[in-house]
Amino acid sequence: MSETASDDLSELERDLMADIAAASDEAAIEQVRVAAIGKKGAVSERMKTLGRMSPEERQVMGPALNGLKARVTEAIADRKAELRAAAIEARLAEETVDVTLPVRPSPVETGRIHPITQVVDEITAICADMGFAIAEGPDIETDYYNFTALNFPPDHPAREMHDTFFLAPGEDGERKVLRTHTSPVQMRTMEAQKPPIRVAIPGKTYRHDSDATHTPMFHQLEALVVDEVTTVAHLKWTIETFCKAFFEVDEVAMRYRPSYFPFTEPSLEVDIQCDRSRPGEVRFGEGNDWMEILGCGMVHPNVLRAGGLDPDVYQGFAWGIGIDRLAMLKYGMPDLRAFFDADVRWLSHYGFRPLDMPTLFGGLSR
Ligand code: DAH
Repeated sequence: MSETASDDLSELERDLMADIAAASDEAAIEQVRVAAIGKKGAVSERMKTLGRMSPEERQVMGPALNGLKARVTEAIADRKAELRAAAIEARLAEETVDVTLPVRPSPVETGRIHPITQVVDEITAICADMGFAIAEGPDIETDYYNFTALNFPPDHPAREMHDTFFLAPGEDGERKVLRTHTSPVQMRTMEAQKPPIRVAIPGKTYRHDSDATHTPMFHQLEALVVDEVTTVAHLKWTIETFCKAFFEVDEVAMRYRPSYFPFTEPSLEVDIQCDRSRPGEVRFGEGNDWMEILGCGMVHPNVLRAGGLDPDVYQGFAWGIGIDRLAMLKYGMPDLRAFFDADVRWLSHYGFRPLDMPTLFGGLSR
């Protein structure tokens, strides 16, 4: 082997060994490998020249190049193993888990049920226990179901009283509304089933109104009973039983005042006995104050007729109550608007634990 060829090889070996030692991660060592013994690497290129050498030259350069290739290959493999081990060490150190740290609470522990959902669940449990089925209807209603079928005469001021949100007229010129109350589901129920009817209807309702106790979207519970013998006595018992169960008190006095709704005759407004002597607190079933909580009455014959029922055979009673207000009263929340602010601090304070489902036997609110 000529002096220069052997100098060249030892210089190449020195350079490659330095590159191998300097490679600081697995990607870098892979680059060195490609540059040395890859298809077009420095060592591989030199191996290709063997074919053009004289037999004597080849006898010397062959073993020299093979020896170089073997040493470089081994050095690369060693460095690679070293770097991999170091990478694993670093990762283990970085991802250390301190098993003595407290366990992070699961979503079931931290998530909260909104008070409206809780109250709807409570109401559903109470009504189901009294033999009511749950019914629902659309939020976008026709004028017919929201007003006309419920005996609101055309141009009756009550239509204005409801601060209705009207939708843009459809192709047929009909203006739909966001339902202003859950009462339209009374009519939908009468159309869908025959008496005896016992339905409770919780749902969203909409009116153009906003202050501490009114939001444009709010919730109502409607109840409807239709049967062959249905009286005001049934109405009163049902409402009192509902209120005692909801407020979780054994006794409560109720006061019935005459009122007016187009869809009931007679119509009544109901006050519930309460104690407001402690600031910021209302207690039900005690005290000398009254608070209006719901509207009710005997279903108007025109409404029964619109529902395809003969008022000489069937009578019914109905009531409607504001769910949001029930929640505010029961759980002491002063401002209705906070219900819909989606503030997680409010929700974690006033919300309910997801696995505490309200039942009559297990307790509604605990
Ligand atoms: N729909 C009435 C409202 O939103 C509430 C109501 C009153 C419902 C009397 C009834 C009822 O079913 O009988 O103001």
